[in-house]
Amino acid sequence: MEYTALGHNEKLRVSKIGTGLWQASNAWNAVEEDVIEAVGTAKEKGINFLDTAEAYGKGNSERVLGKALKEYGRENFFVATKVAGAHLRYDELQRAASASIKRLGVDYIDLYQIHWPDPWEQIPMSQTFRAMKKLHEEGKIRAVGVSNFAVRDMEEARGILGDLPIVSNQVRYNLLQRNIEEEVVPFCKKNNISIIAWSPLAQGVLTGKYSPENIPNGDVREGNELFAPKNLEKAKEILSMLKSLGEKYSKTPAQIALNWLASKKDVIPIPGAKNSKQAMENADSVSFKLTGREISEMESLSSATIFDYLPA
Ligand SMILES: NC(=O)c1ccc[n+]([C@@H]2O[C@H](COP(=O)([O-])OP(=O)(O)OC[C@H]3O[C@@H](n4cnc5c(N)ncnc54)[C@H](OP(=O)(O)O)[C@@H]3O)[C@@H](O)[C@H]2O)c1
Repeated sequence: MEYTALGHNEKLRVSKIGTGLWQASNAWNAVEEDVIEAVGTAKEKGINFLDTAEAYGKGNSERVLGKALKEYGRENFFVATKVAGAHLRYDELQRAASASIKRLGVDYIDLYQIHWPDPWEQIPMSQTFRAMKKLHEEGKIRAVGVSNFAVRDMEEARGILGDLPIVSNQVRYNLLQRNIEEEVVPFCKKNNISIIAWSPLAQGVLTGKYSPENIPNGDVREGNELFAPKNLEKAKEILSMLKSLGEKYSKTPAQIALNWLASKKDVIPIPGAKNSKQAMENADSVSFKLTGREISEMESLSSATIFDYLPA
């Protein structure tokens, strides 16, 4: 496994690919024991970066991750969680951090992220980031991250934090949804902010296992526009390229899609795994290198088919 320094901070060494734990939240119909086992497999493969959030199943994902940390050793992992956009007042944020620490069964959080900016823009950002500073001073969090932040939000937050850097911005990023490349990526690059890529498999579309006749139902993806027939139709060409590259490298389409993201400096995909098999496959997606030419061919095909903005 390759490792990288989050936010260019050598003290924050994380695997080049992580594991997302939204799958431990009831929203995905995953089995708790299977997700815990997936964390064990990730560890065996050298993955240390695990991502969860207080919002996932109202704390359930953090509780399940807490069990996994107990089983596989907290010291082997870099634990990232998030405070929900509804807890951004100074006192609320402190309470939310303590509650997450308790559910996770840890002494500190490695990366604490603001899940999304205040959607109503009523809470001054100074309250939120003063609270983050305090948590950092107290040693409850090792690093500050944000998620779904636009450039203007990052600029404002950086102004409040002063010397304390924002080390990462967690945003939606996959071969079909590349909207962040326009503004967010260049700003992050310039300011040493790593990109943590959520939905790196477009929630399963990039595995190639879904079609208009076979879409996920009964879970959080029900009604998601990603699986609308017109979008699955649009994705076909990319999927066929992923398949043929997969044949060349003896990899699956999902592994090629993840490799494309991980090939970018300072981008860390965090595919969600429901079981050990998926965790293994996702970890093995970074064990080879696509050529520059293959990457640019994938990118030109993908920018021709790029999905319009779709709600998460
Ligand atoms: N910050 C945010 O706002 C935000 C938003 C969304 C997600 N996230 C984070 O990002 C993580 C990943 O995003 P995501 O869960 O939305 O989407 P994703 O990683 O693109 O897709 C995950 C789903 O794809 C399928 N899958 C995963 N690996 C596979 C494999 N190797 N082969 C076949 N199928 C596979 C599984 O579902 P099936 O097997 O049922 O198809 C899995 O639940 C989350 O767990 C969470 O930590 C953050």
